[in-house]
Amino acid sequence: MINKKQPKKVLLKRGRIIDPFSKKTFIGDILIENGKIASIKKNISSKDKNIFRIDCKGLVVTHGFCDIHVHFREPGREDKETLESGSIAALAGGFTQVCTMPNTNPPIDSPEHVYYIKSKSNTLPIDIFPIGAVSLGQKGEELTEMLIMKDNGAIAFSDDGIPIQNAQFMALALKYSKMTNLPIINHAEDIYLRNEGVMNAGPNSNNLGLKGNPSLAESIMVYRDLALASSLGARLHIPHISTKDSVGLVKLFKSKNKLITAEVSPHHLYFCDDDIVDFNTNLKVGPPIRSKSDRKKLIEGIKSGIIDCIATDHAPHTIEDKETTFNDAEFGMIGLESCFGVVNKVLVKDNGMSLKSLIEKLTVNPRKIMNINRDLFAVGEKAQITIFDPNEKWKFSEKNIYSKSSNSPFIGHDLVGKVKYVFSKDSFFTL
Ligand code: DOR
Repeated sequence: MINKKQPKKVLLKRGRIIDPFSKKTFIGDILIENGKIASIKKNISSKDKNIFRIDCKGLVVTHGFCDIHVHFREPGREDKETLESGSIAALAGGFTQVCTMPNTNPPIDSPEHVYYIKSKSNTLPIDIFPIGAVSLGQKGEELTEMLIMKDNGAIAFSDDGIPIQNAQFMALALKYSKMTNLPIINHAEDIYLRNEGVMNAGPNSNNLGLKGNPSLAESIMVYRDLALASSLGARLHIPHISTKDSVGLVKLFKSKNKLITAEVSPHHLYFCDDDIVDFNTNLKVGPPIRSKSDRKKLIEGIKSGIIDCIATDHAPHTIEDKETTFNDAEFGMIGLESCFGVVNKVLVKDNGMSLKSLIEKLTVNPRKIMNINRDLFAVGEKAQITIFDPNEKWKFSEKNIYSKSSNSPFIGHDLVGKVKYVFSKDSFFTL
């Protein structure tokens, strides 16, 4: 149960404040008044009896997390997720801002659709920034009205879920996006090389008798997109990067083009295809969970900064869509509620990344890619704060899920690091 309060004044006492924007870390207090940051310093004392005080000793107090890749299913499949249920799932994961992918039904491919998502967000407890489709109907044939969509609140453009196959069309999209100064996010998979593969191609797919999706299906298109964006001087963001070759390519092209960015999803950092032993359809995702050596390179890539940020690719599906054969199941898994416990465990606890660096990948880095304000602890700023225990050990279970769907392969897994409180849009949430 998430408990919500709307006190006029909130005093967060004795937390470890990590400000990823100013890069300052100290034990201190934060005063929030009327939903805005009123003061941040080592000690704030107040005799005000009406102040709502929270003892944050032993907890980390930082910016609200930002997830630039989620699928909420409104409009069209509100049985899987609505903008509202997705917002609550995001809050439970410590996210105060998310960017929604446009592969709804109908897709978000017009200025009116963008406006619908943007205005609905005003009534919800977090900010939702719509990503508009690149092509009408996500068919990869005709460009959408990108400039007007930007005016109505589109934050980027993507046909995610469906790769843009035609290189000439991708080039055109990058040229138009330059006029908007918003990034193009292409789901990089060559569908012909993917060849209806349902998991990573390799010894495990052979053993299970499942059709394999080779890593080349991704990296060949990542190369194409990087080459196009670099020759055009356009902004390109590579989503859910999954192969070691893609990491190498991003590194190579980043040295020439400062406008290139990339994200990795928690599940690609946590699992490898050895984990798909029992046809668990919650591990069926596009791009697929790759090999152990791919996973290792992804971890190195996020640690070294080649990969800029973490994004969940939260993709809710019904029980009917998932409780079927591996071949027939839908691609995708939910990821908002489990994200922090997963990435803190994999990156900080098991692979020596600093907590400060992890926080950057969940706060300032994704906001920079999407051009969202990053100085969240400035006095007068609308408060967006996430407070977590970095050491709490917990088992992820159905009761931690607020999404309308429960297709998570993390159920039953021991995680480390738990979000305890979130302040967002004038409200204080206890998780
Ligand atoms: O596994 C996936 N599911 N990958 C995507 O890119 C799309 C997503 C969905 O919308 O279900």
